[in-house]
Amino acid sequence: MIEFKHIDKRFQLKNGSFLKVLNDFNLHVEKNDLLLIKGVSGCGKSTILNICAALQKPNFGEIIVNGESISKLSDSFASEFRLKNIGFIFQKHNLLTGQSVLQNLAIPLLVSNYTLAQIEKKATDLLDKFELLNLKDEPVENLSGGESARVAILRALINDANIILADEPTANLDLGLSELFISYMHLLKDEGKTIIISTHDDIFEKRCNYTNILNLKKKT
Ligand SMILES: Nc1ncnc2c1ncn2[C@@H]1O[C@H](COP(=O)(O)OP(=O)(O)O)[C@@H](O)[C@H]1O
Ligand SMILES: [Mg+2]
Repeated sequence: MIEFKHIDKRFQLKNGSFLKVLNDFNLHVEKNDLLLIKGVSGCGKSTILNICAALQKPNFGEIIVNGESISKLSDSFASEFRLKNIGFIFQKHNLLTGQSVLQNLAIPLLVSNYTLAQIEKKATDLLDKFELLNLKDEPVENLSGGESARVAILRALINDANIILADEPTANLDLGLSELFISYMHLLKDEGKTIIISTHDDIFEKRCNYTNILNLKKKT
C-alpha cells in the first residue's frame, strides 16, 4: 500500500554543498499498519512524511501509494492525490489564523468537488463526533493548545483518506493530551486506516506495545 523504493533525497545548502538526507531508503507499509518513525532531530522523519504525501519529490527512486506512483506528480496531480489518499497532521498544526475552526477544517476540501454546504456538513459531523461542536465558529487563535491540536487532527480526517501521516504530533502536547492523541490514533486504526507517526517521544512505546518501529539514523 505504501512503498518507498531506493529513495534518495538531498537538499542544497546555502553554501552550495548538498545534504543527503535519504540514501537508498526503502520502506513498505501495509494497509492498516501503524508505523512509528523514530530518530533524532534532523534525521529525515519529516522528509519521509512529506515525500509520502507528495509534498516533496525525491531526487531518485519511486514511491507507490495505493497503487499510484507519486514520485513525479505535477503540483495539481499531487493535490488531487492528497485529497484522495492523505490526511496530514503537521507538527506546528498549521492552522490558518483569522479563520474559524469550521473554515480550517474545510481547507483540504476546497480543491474537491464538494459544495460548500456538503463541506460544512462533513466538518460539523466530525466536530460533533469528537465533541468539539461548541468550537465550530471560534477563530483558531482563541483555542488552547490542546484544542488546536485536536482541530489539526480533525482537519486530517475531513477528506476520509485512508492514510494518516502525523509529524511529531505530541511534540507540543502535555502527557494527558498525548494520551488522548494516542487513543485517537487507535480509534482510526480500528476504523481501518493506515498510520505513520514520526516522533522522538517515548510515550508511544511506553503506552502501547508497538512492534512496527523504524529507527532512523542521522546521516553524517
Ligand atoms: N528545504 C530544505 N533545505 C535544506 N535542508 C533541509 C530542507 N529540509 C530539510 N532539510 C535538512 O534535512 C535534514 C532532515 O530534515 P527533516 O526531515 O526535517 O528531519 P527531522 O524531521 O527528522 O527532524 C535536516 O538536517 C534539515 O535541516
Ligand atoms: Mg521533523
